[in-house]
Amino acid sequence: MAEQTEARLAEPARGRTSGQPESPSAQTDVQAGPRTEVADRPVPTAPGSPDAQETPSPPDAPDTPGTPDPPIIDLTAYGDRFTADPYSVYAELRDRGPAHRVRVDEQNVVWLIVGHEEARAALADSRLSKDWRAAPDLRFRAAPVNANMLDSDPPDHTRLRRLVAREFTSRRVESLRPRVEEITGELLDAMAAVPDGRADLVEALAFPLPMSVICELLGVPSLDRASFRAWSNEVVAPTSPEAGEAAMHAVGEYLVGLIEEKRRHPGDDLLSGLIRTTDEDGDRLAPDELVGMAFLLLVAGHETTVNLITNGVHALLRHPDSLAGLRADLSLTERAVEETLRWDGPVENATFRYSREPLGVGGVTIPARQAVVISLAAADRDPARFPDADRFDLHRRPGGHLAFGHGIHFCLGAPLARMEGQIAIRRLLERFPDLALDLDPDRPAGDLPWIPGLLIRGLRRLPVRLR
Ligand code: HEM
Repeated sequence: MAEQTEARLAEPARGRTSGQPESPSAQTDVQAGPRTEVADRPVPTAPGSPDAQETPSPPDAPDTPGTPDPPIIDLTAYGDRFTADPYSVYAELRDRGPAHRVRVDEQNVVWLIVGHEEARAALADSRLSKDWRAAPDLRFRAAPVNANMLDSDPPDHTRLRRLVAREFTSRRVESLRPRVEEITGELLDAMAAVPDGRADLVEALAFPLPMSVICELLGVPSLDRASFRAWSNEVVAPTSPEAGEAAMHAVGEYLVGLIEEKRRHPGDDLLSGLIRTTDEDGDRLAPDELVGMAFLLLVAGHETTVNLITNGVHALLRHPDSLAGLRADLSLTERAVEETLRWDGPVENATFRYSREPLGVGGVTIPARQAVVISLAAADRDPARFPDADRFDLHRRPGGHLAFGHGIHFCLGAPLARMEGQIAIRRLLERFPDLALDLDPDRPAGDLPWIPGLLIRGLRRLPVRLR
């Protein structure tokens, strides 16, 4: 194994031969402090203890062909720049090659795949496991919430996904349309009633819409949304490894209570159906898996869609020509949603995978038992796949983006997310013809609060003027 030399992509690295190690002394000139908030565990799918964050020290892998490892690129050195504009960093990485070793926090070095073609292939590569047990060098206590389909390989994955897949087909989702319209209408009414005509789009629309829909679908109207939101935010973008782990356990315990309550008062809903499956046919869904399923659906069902709506509105308000074009022809809303998914999609990087065996990616060999992160954001801005990829363009041919992943873990909720995104954006524009960003005029670029971490791309708040 090559010596672990740390490099960074920032200015001093330019001009060196691509991939050439930086001298170890250069590490000291990294200006920004470590980004401890980086989502070192892209849960909801990653193991659950601080130990788990220790990426296995690159092994003297006897099963690894003799290619030297590339230098480690320190993403923490970018600090806030990486949070606000990860795309420019990914572009620099892509220019150097499709796969890199990157430091994502003090403890973790992972492999990051940034080219579109390589990312698409990796997402469907069964040599990359989603089951943390495929990374035997990792030590951790699994949380019950980890017993979910996104953390599993076949045959468990197949079994778990099959149990709920029929609830999320396009046809089934279409039956929810009237209710999604109704909830959206109520939220817009509330926004219109605010006297000063100002709102935080996240609070007013982007969060409550998907949260209400997934709660109704699962049958948990009594969910304590404020607590759940706080835990869920912490799980997908931990402020510290300890806080992330604590949130994951707290949410697990909360869900056990919620499931107990549902068991006592079953209804005609998804969670009641899953409870019956667990109680009557335990070989199809174990108790831990029930908690894991509820966790995954609740977290995936809102953390992502909230940012589809927010990022979509943000992109449109930043691109007045596109906004005008869309206002003139609202049938383009579907395009706007697809272009948002590609250009600024809510899932920046897919959840951790682990190499079962050495794997060649774009000229480098990823050894066995390594954590691998596939960058959806980098792939969807790859100019080799999307001409003029950094341009937000409503007239681009939709499709081909990886915002919902690819392969067997392709997003189960994609039809629901698309429908919610389209309805929210269309109705918002119809209701508020003068919608605009509400930023400090002295700082037109705005210090918008981008969510830190590797997993989620989105804003904590988006201040808008409604009229
Ligand atoms: C715009 C919104 C959404 C985006 C961008 C998104 C994105 C993704 C991505 C990228 C994956 C694959 C992750 C990986 O392979 O590591 C995924 C999986 C998943 N998503 Fe979504 N998602 C969204 C909304 C939803 C919604 C509304 C639900 C509904 C319940 C949902 C449920 C799931 C589930 C259950 C999985 C795991 C599928 C499996 O492992 O087979 N997602 N999502």
